[in-house]
Parts: sequence; C-alpha cells; structure tokens
Amino acid sequence: MSEAELPQNAKSSGAKPSDTLSMPAVPRHVAIIMDGNGRWAAARGLPRAEGHRRGVEALRRTIRAAGEMGVKVITVFSFSSENWSRPAAEVGELMGLLRRFIRNDLAELHKSGVRVRIIGERAGLEADIGRLLIEAEELTKDNTGLTLVVAFNYGARQEIARAARQAAEAVAQGRLKPEDITVEILGGFLDTADLPDPDLIIRTSGEQRLSNFLLWQSAYSELVFVPTNWPDFDRAALESAIREYQQRERRFGGLTAKTGS
Ligand code: FPP
Repeated sequence: MSEAELPQNAKSSGAKPSDTLSMPAVPRHVAIIMDGNGRWAAARGLPRAEGHRRGVEALRRTIRAAGEMGVKVITVFSFSSENWSRPAAEVGELMGLLRRFIRNDLAELHKSGVRVRIIGERAGLEADIGRLLIEAEELTKDNTGLTLVVAFNYGARQEIARAARQAAEAVAQGRLKPEDITVEILGGFLDTADLPDPDLIIRTSGEQRLSNFLLWQSAYSELVFVPTNWPDFDRAALESAIREYQQRERRFGGLTAKTGS
C-alpha cells in the first residue's frame, strides 16, 4: 500500500494521545455521553420526548460553552446502534430531533465557524436523514472553529468491525499486507480517522460505563461521571468536569513526571 492510499490517520499522528497538552489545560477533545433525558422527564411527570427536547437545548448550550472555553473538538453520543431497540415512537422522536437540529441550527453553527462531522453507520438510515448529514458536513467542511462530531447510529464495536472489514478488503485486493496492519493503519480505517482521541469523556446521569462509545479512541481518555441528568447540563457543569480532568495526571502508560515511579 503506498502512502497516498493509506487511510488518513495512518499518515498523520495516528492513534497517539494528545501529546502537546500541558497540564492544566483545557482538553482539546471532549466527548460526551448525554444520558438521563428519560429520568429527567420522569422526575417531572413529563413524557420522555420532552426530556430529549430539553436535551437538545443542553446540547446547544454545551457546544457554545465548549467553543468559548477553547475546546477544539466535541463529540456527542446522540443515537447508538442499540437505540433501535427502543419503542418505535421514541426512535421516531430521536430521528425527528436530529432532522430539526440540522435544519434549525446548521446555518448558525456554520456562521460560528463550527465544522460538523458525523460518525456512525449511514446504511439503513432514512434517505432524507442521510442527505441532511451530508449537507451538514459539506457546508461546514472548511470551517476552522470548533469541530462538532455527532455520533449517530454509532456503536464502537460496529465501527471497529467495519474498519477490520475494510482492512481485510485492502488485503484481498493486494493493497495492504497483513503484516503491515498496525494500530495506526487500523485506526486510519475508523470513522474518527482524522480526529484526535478524546482527552476527556463525560457521562451524565450518574451511570458509570462507556456503553459501546469510542472504545478504541478512549484508550487513554480521562473519564468523568457526573450526577446531573443531561437536560440540566450547562456551562458550570462542563467547567466542573474540566476542572476534575485538570486534576488528573495523564501518564499514557509511562511514568509520572513528579516521582518517576
Ligand atoms: C440518553 O437518555 C439520551 C439519548 C439516548 C439520546 C440523546 C439525544 C439528545 C440529547 C437529543 C438529540 C441529539 C441531537 C444531536 C439532535 P436516555 O433516554 O437513555 O435517558 P434515561 O437513561 O434516563 O432513560
């Protein structure tokens, strides 16, 4: 496989953690599992759909705050590969929210210099949603401000399986040798090939697991779990999670700078 044919990540820094980050620093890439919309609604006697609608408002606040705080990339888990198992009405509601989010907010995001990227499986989505995702990426592709990555119909195991399939196809076609498959090469086949790994992953609602989110990319991410349900998440909650991140010592498998141990 020639350099020109390699997936993008394999040509650049690959799956390396953000090695230029000096602490305490604002994380370059924050990824968020926006959890607790249903519990937020149930606690108020409201339909779950209302929790999701308020979740979109929290998303708008968080995108704005992250950009202003100097975060470069924010990834949000908005619909997982497993969310299809929810009742059809709720799936329809979540699809409708994505449609409305892109239709209503894309122009404003573009004006603010936000670059939109979508990760996840496109096959199987309704055709108009597929077109909206392409439109959002196309319109904003040259923007140099915050990168907003929307994980939609996304599952990390599925993403890794797709990458492995593509690598296998490259081998079958003689473009790649099995012995050349490295972390960097395989990482370059992932949906996130052109993105840095997340420095910080936040999960709201008090749940403490990754639920098939960015499993490859989170190898050295700091995880911060906050009790707030997603619809109540705001700038103060983001700042507090970032402060907790700033108190962590990131060693990437090496030794601590302070003690050498
Ligand atoms: C988890 O809460 C949240 C989701 C499954 C969807 C997240 C979606 C949004 C915040 C809005 C849509 C996003 C875009 C980009 C338009 P849950 O329903 O699992 O809550 P629960 O665990 O309390 O039931």
